[in-house]
Amino acid sequence: MKKVLILLLLAGAMIPVAAAAGGPEDILPAPARVISAEGVAVYRTPEIVIGSKSFRKATAALPGFAREEAYRISVSRKGIRIEANTEAGAFYARQSLAQMRRESDTLTCCTVFDYPRFAYRGIMLDISRHFRDKDFILKQIDAMAEVRLNRLHLHLTDDAGWRIEIKALPRLTGYAAWRKGVTWKEWRQGGSQYCGQGEPGASGGFLTQEDAREIVAYAAARHITVIPEIEMPGHSSEVLAAYPGLRCVKSDGTPAEKGRDLCPGNEATFTFLETVLGEIMDIFPSKYIHVGGDEAEKRNWPDCPACRARMEQEGLQTPEELQSYLIARIERFLNDNGRSLLGWDEILEGGLAPNATVMSWRGTAGGIKAAEMGHDVVMTPSPWCYLDKYQDAQFKEPEAIGGYLPLEKAYGYDPCDGIPEESQRHVLGVQGNLWHEYIPSPDHTEYMLWPRAFAIAENGWTLPENKDWPSFRIRAQRQADYLAEKGYHPFDLRDEFGERKASLQPVRHLAAGKSVTYTLPWNKSYPAAREATLTDGIMGTWTYTDGRWQGFLTDVDVTIDLGEVRDIHYVGATFMMQPGPEIFLPKKVEIFVSNDGERFEKAGEVWNEVPVADKSVLYTLFGTSVNASCRYVRYHAKQDHAWLFVDEIVVN
Ligand code: ACM
Ligand code: ZN
Repeated sequence: MKKVLILLLLAGAMIPVAAAAGGPEDILPAPARVISAEGVAVYRTPEIVIGSKSFRKATAALPGFAREEAYRISVSRKGIRIEANTEAGAFYARQSLAQMRRESDTLTCCTVFDYPRFAYRGIMLDISRHFRDKDFILKQIDAMAEVRLNRLHLHLTDDAGWRIEIKALPRLTGYAAWRKGVTWKEWRQGGSQYCGQGEPGASGGFLTQEDAREIVAYAAARHITVIPEIEMPGHSSEVLAAYPGLRCVKSDGTPAEKGRDLCPGNEATFTFLETVLGEIMDIFPSKYIHVGGDEAEKRNWPDCPACRARMEQEGLQTPEELQSYLIARIERFLNDNGRSLLGWDEILEGGLAPNATVMSWRGTAGGIKAAEMGHDVVMTPSPWCYLDKYQDAQFKEPEAIGGYLPLEKAYGYDPCDGIPEESQRHVLGVQGNLWHEYIPSPDHTEYMLWPRAFAIAENGWTLPENKDWPSFRIRAQRQADYLAEKGYHPFDLRDEFGERKASLQPVRHLAAGKSVTYTLPWNKSYPAAREATLTDGIMGTWTYTDGRWQGFLTDVDVTIDLGEVRDIHYVGATFMMQPGPEIFLPKKVEIFVSNDGERFEKAGEVWNEVPVADKSVLYTLFGTSVNASCRYVRYHAKQDHAWLFVDEIVVN
C-alpha cells in the first residue's frame, strides 16, 4: 500500500500542474471596467496601438489626466492588443498584462478598459533621518511602477541631515549631511551633533546632482515624477549648523541658542533659499516644488530684531503671518520660474499663498479647508497614510511611531472623505508618507513600505465602486510575494496578528456602566471617555492615542461604586507599556473594598514583575482574585515613572 502511494506521488510530480489562467482579477490596482469573454488564450506579444482615433473617442469623456493614462487590453484567441493615448497608458497596460500572466501564460479572454481616479498617486520617502542612496531609490521606483504609483516625493532636507548636493553651498553636503550617530536615535541621544564629511565617526551621505538626475530620468522612463522637498522655515537645524548666519538673533544681538527655524527677517535667508531652489529646479523638472512649511517653532521670531523689523515693514501681526510672508515670497520665486509650490498644511495658517497646493497631513481638515478655498490638495492624512506607524500588533513589530496602521485601515481610506462634493475636483490624489526616524536600515524601509503602499496605489487609481478588501488582500499578498522573490523585504501578511482581540467587542462585567470617582485626575491630553472610560466596557486597541486608553502622569487612584452590595471574586485592569513614548507599568496595584465608601479594607495587591531592563511593548494585566461582598472597589496603581495608560477596570 505504502509503495503504491509513493509511486503515485512520484508519477504525480512528473505531470506538470496547469496553473489557473491569469485574468483581470490579478491586476493591482483593480481596473475600471472588465468585460469577460468565453475561453482562454495563450499569451503572445501584444500588438500596441498608441493614439488611434477609436481609442481617443472611447476615452473622450474622461478628465484629461485619466485620458492620458487610460489603456485597453483585449485578450482573445486571435491575439492580445493594447490601446492607449500615450506612452504612459501603454506602459500601464504592459504592467497590468504582466500581472495577469505572472503565474500562467494562459489568459482568460477579456477586455480591460482602465484609467485612474486621481492624477496624483504618491509615495514620500524621508531620506534625511536615515539616508537612502541612489540604488535603493531606483529599486523602490521599480516597485512603484508595478502598481502605477506615479509621484515620488523625496524629503531631502531635515534636522537630521541635508541630502542633496548644492554646488553653490558646499557646506550643506560637506557638513550638514554628516552627523555623529549612525541611527537617528543615537544622534538625538548624543545631543544632535553634526560633523565634517570624513571626520572620524561621521555618518550620513547625500545624493550628488548626478545621482539625482539619474533618479529623475529613471523615474520618468517609468512615468513617475520625482518631487523634491526642501524644508523651510522649520526643521532646518542642519542648515543652521552649516550656515549659522541664517539663525535668528536675540534682542541683544547675539545668536539665538535654541531653535531650528531659518530667520525670515534676514534677507540672507531668501538668498540662501533662492540659490538652493535655483539648483533644485535645474535638477528636478517637476511642476511642483515642495517647500515643507510644517512644524516651524517660530520661538525666536518675536524677539529677533530682523524678524520684528520685517513684521513692522510688511504689516504682519503674528508669527504665522511671518511664515506666510516667507512662503508667499518663495511661491512668487517658483512661479516666476514656471513652477508651482506644494507645502504641508501649516502653510494655511497665516494666510495661504495665492497659487499654493496643500498637502493635508494633520488629518483631513487642512485639505478640506484648502479645497473649499479653491486650492488643489493632495491628501496624506496621518491616520491612514503615514506608513511609519505600526502595521501590526506593537509587541511583535520593530519600534515605530505611535499609532496602528494595518493594511486594511490604509485600504479603507477614500481621498475624498470629508471633502464637499463641489470641492472634490481640487483633490489631486493621495500619498503615503514614510518618515524615517525609526527606520535605520534599507530593508526596514521596504518592510514598512510594502504592501501598505499597494493600498495607497489602489486608493489613488481604482474607482470606489471597484474597491474590494478581500480581493485586494489576495492581490496584495501576491504582489508582496513577487517583490520578495525579486529581493525586496516586504511585511508578510501571513504573519499578521491583527488588532487587539479584546478591543473588538464590548466586555460585560459587574462594574460595566458603574460610576467612578477619581482621587487624582487623568492627564488632560489623554482623557479618553473621561469618567466613563474605566467602566464603559470598551477595551483599548494596540494604540494609546485611540481615545480608549486613559493617560496619567500620576498614580491611578479611583473608586467604583457598584450601586449595591455585590459578591465579587476578581478585580483587574490592563496597563500598557511602550518605552518609546515613555509609557510604563505601575510599580504595584492595591485593591480595597468597602460597603459605605468610607472604611476600606485591603482585598488584594499585585506587583509588577516585568524586569526593569525589559524594553518591550507590553499589555499587562494587573488583576487578582478577591473574595468580598462590597459596594465600593478602590483600585490604586502606583506610578513608576512617566506615563500610566489603562483602559478598563474589570470586576467580576
Ligand atoms: C509632517 O509629518 N510633519 C508633515
Ligand atoms: Zn529672525
